[in-house]
Amino acid sequence: MFTDRLAAAAESVQEKLDQNLEAIPGNLGEAMRHTTQGGKRLRAFLVMESAQLHGIPEKQALWPAAAIEAMHAYSLVHDDLPCMDNDSLRRGRPTIHIKWDEATAVLAGDALQALAFELAAHPSCSADPMVRAELAHSFAAAAGGRGMVLGQAQDIAAETASTPLDLDAITGLQARKTGALFQWAATAGPRMAHDDTTALLRFATALGLAFQITDDILDVEGNTDKAGKRLQKDSAAGKATFVTLLGLDAAKQRAGDLTAEACAALEHYGAKGDSLRQAAQFVITRDI
Ligand code: IPE
Ligand code: IPE
Ligand code: MG
Ligand code: MG
Ligand code: MG
Repeated sequence: MFTDRLAAAAESVQEKLDQNLEAIPGNLGEAMRHTTQGGKRLRAFLVMESAQLHGIPEKQALWPAAAIEAMHAYSLVHDDLPCMDNDSLRRGRPTIHIKWDEATAVLAGDALQALAFELAAHPSCSADPMVRAELAHSFAAAAGGRGMVLGQAQDIAAETASTPLDLDAITGLQARKTGALFQWAATAGPRMAHDDTTALLRFATALGLAFQITDDILDVEGNTDKAGKRLQKDSAAGKATFVTLLGLDAAKQRAGDLTAEACAALEHYGAKGDSLRQAAQFVITRDI
């Protein structure tokens, strides 16, 4: 059920991204198309499921679903740059600054970020201009200097911090760098329907943390071929993660507890929340 729905969301979102990228010429267009291929599409799935739970037609939900994947793709291109995590492999393929050059990676990231807002505020996303404005406004807050980008800044600063970050500081950092986009994705449905976002916000807050902790666990014991990126880098880079602070067992325990918390937040939706519950299980059992 979950895997079929994830695959269906991935296919429709790929189509939407492809349509919106085909007219961009040169290396810039090629790099943007390269970087928006593949991936698990979990954030797009959260948009699609939250929209369905709140009665929003799939045709409309595909706009914010493609938007969150464009934003996420930009964050990965910049995350992989030599001045950040310095990675040469992403989704099983060379990163943009390796395949092209750094200027192309910076610019493709910039343009993907702009595209993300273009898609989220697209007239076909909602007939109600207030909904489109609110989606764009909350998206900017999630992505920017109080959200994902701040989390990324804190992640980089932690590498050279004189004292190691404590649990609260790591939790805050991860809630921003990963959690903020998960939160926006999972609340897109109620936002579009003018409904209450409380339950899905709670769900996504716990899920985003469980997702990043699992990413940090996979950095230690995952398989590069499956993950499609280089692993065993975080410790040497001085990253502040649950794993570097507490060790693998405690990190796994924490990810499990957070998944239970995410599922508990779905009580409001009864059986209709089942594919989100399965998504939460996937988040901590995945090897990709
Ligand atoms: C990777 O995200 C970056 C993190 C926030 C840990 P994903 O693991 O969702 O990457 P893709 O989209 O599946 O490649
Ligand atoms: C990346 O976290 C988070 C964002 C891109 C916002 P990581 O640096 O751990 O992600 P990977 O491991 O490179 O995918
Ligand atoms: Mg990083
Ligand atoms: Mg990285
Ligand atoms: Mg990582």
